[in-house]
Amino acid sequence: MSVTFPRRRFLATGGVASALTAGHILVGPALLDPTGALAAVRSHGGAPLPHGLFTLGVASGDPSPDGFVLWTRLAPRPLDGGGMPDRAVPVSWQVAADERFRQIRATGVAVARPERAHAVHVEVGGLRADREYFYRFRVGQENSPAGRSRTAPEHGAIKQRLRFAFASCHNWQDGYFTAYHHLAQEDLAFVAFLGDYIYESAPRTTTIRAHEGTDEPYTLVEYRNRHAQYKTDTALQAAHAAFPWIVTWDDHEVDNNWADEIPQDPDQQPREKFLARRAAAFQAYYEHMPLRRLAVPRGIDMRLYRRLGFGRLATVHVLDTRQYRSDQPATLAEAEDPARTLTGAEQESWLVKGMSHSGTRWNLLANQVMWASNDRKAGPEQVFDFDNWDGYRVQRRRMLEFFGSGRAANPVVLTGDRHATWVCDLTPDVDDQASPTVGAEITGTSISSGGDSDPVSFHRTFDPIMAESPHWKYIDNRRGYVVCDVSPTRLLAALRTVSSVWRPGDTTITTAARFQVEAGRPGVTVVDRLPSEREKPRVEKTSRRYQVDDDQF
Ligand SMILES: [Fe+2]
Repeated sequence: MSVTFPRRRFLATGGVASALTAGHILVGPALLDPTGALAAVRSHGGAPLPHGLFTLGVASGDPSPDGFVLWTRLAPRPLDGGGMPDRAVPVSWQVAADERFRQIRATGVAVARPERAHAVHVEVGGLRADREYFYRFRVGQENSPAGRSRTAPEHGAIKQRLRFAFASCHNWQDGYFTAYHHLAQEDLAFVAFLGDYIYESAPRTTTIRAHEGTDEPYTLVEYRNRHAQYKTDTALQAAHAAFPWIVTWDDHEVDNNWADEIPQDPDQQPREKFLARRAAAFQAYYEHMPLRRLAVPRGIDMRLYRRLGFGRLATVHVLDTRQYRSDQPATLAEAEDPARTLTGAEQESWLVKGMSHSGTRWNLLANQVMWASNDRKAGPEQVFDFDNWDGYRVQRRRMLEFFGSGRAANPVVLTGDRHATWVCDLTPDVDDQASPTVGAEITGTSISSGGDSDPVSFHRTFDPIMAESPHWKYIDNRRGYVVCDVSPTRLLAALRTVSSVWRPGDTTITTAARFQVEAGRPGVTVVDRLPSEREKPRVEKTSRRYQVDDDQF
């Protein structure tokens, strides 16, 4: 899968191996080896390493004005525990200002350790703000592919434009990640990934391509193998290599619809068993993502909610609505329980303070499940998915009243999970038509989850509900991602849909619709849209298709 810059050989330059990083440490252009650990690793020796170490590609993430995180994992046998010897291995890395690696800006050596699955996280600092950089790794004579990253603008910088994409939900078994091939060709500052990076479901024989293993993952090695399988996808590798990613999780990185310490099926997974599973899933997640030290897991805890600034234009508030949430309610009355929380009290307070004091024109939420009320049934009866904010109604009302208080500039919620595009106005009281619009939510579709869609049946089901839901502005269920162009005056979001996730050759990408949020005017409007699939003549599909029920969202 090609990216817009060529892969090149790792050039021999001076200054390499000037420092050792203990798996994850902050470094800059000037490097030291204060612990002498590099010499210790070298003297350890051991059998020669297998070939083909960089099977999982490279990645960067969490850009700041002076740097970003670099990531790779050495895994010559990715589906079989990684295949590395049980010893630490030094990994050289370089960051350059040019794609030919002639202008080296930072360099060093990290240590890939067996207890971290030979993953490497390097926090590079000391770089220039708002610049493109290139990076690569080397072990012995073997070179990684090159990646491209970008630093964020200075905190006080007045930028006129920020362009990024958000994506979610790539189920290996539901389809190929064809959308990522196209996403890698976009012009973006970063990609925000909003959850469901892996799916924990057991392998099935009726799918487009099967999960590895024989069951759902429970142990650390099983989660590592599942993550590694996803990372072998060349389109996903290209998208990681092209831009820094800002990642968060939803449920399937651990267990469908899990809530804090409660699994989907508590009768099947006793508490202690689930907590061990959660800890294993967290560690494997960290090991495979370009995350900073803040996110290093400690047992069953991992700090994933965090904030990233992009000059005075935008702040991205990354949410974690799984780790601290109350269990899903069973009834609408339970959903109105004021004690119920989706974020936990601490994260809510962090979010309110952060949005109040961001000092940026836009407050963007990198969010998982839908905020906007999402009735699933036409007519007077209402049916909700209580895994969403519809199950946490008092906290939602409190947060949306805060959105409307004027204390947070231009809140826009960017959402995953739904496997469909759902563009909505946000109002504090969804049952009151007079409730004011206080923000906008753009729920992106999925990269592959749900497979090639059937827009005709989708619209047959949801158009009558849309007619009863005036806060819904646009719905669609084709696969793809959303590109956002942000300026001081407006956020313009383009829904980019891919022609197929079942037939990976020669796919095309289309802007299916564009949505706009104007600064100072809460709510979202549809700028333009292609004719709906339901208005086109029906084309019979010859590919197999299967149902994805709501429980798998
Ligand atoms: Fe999903």
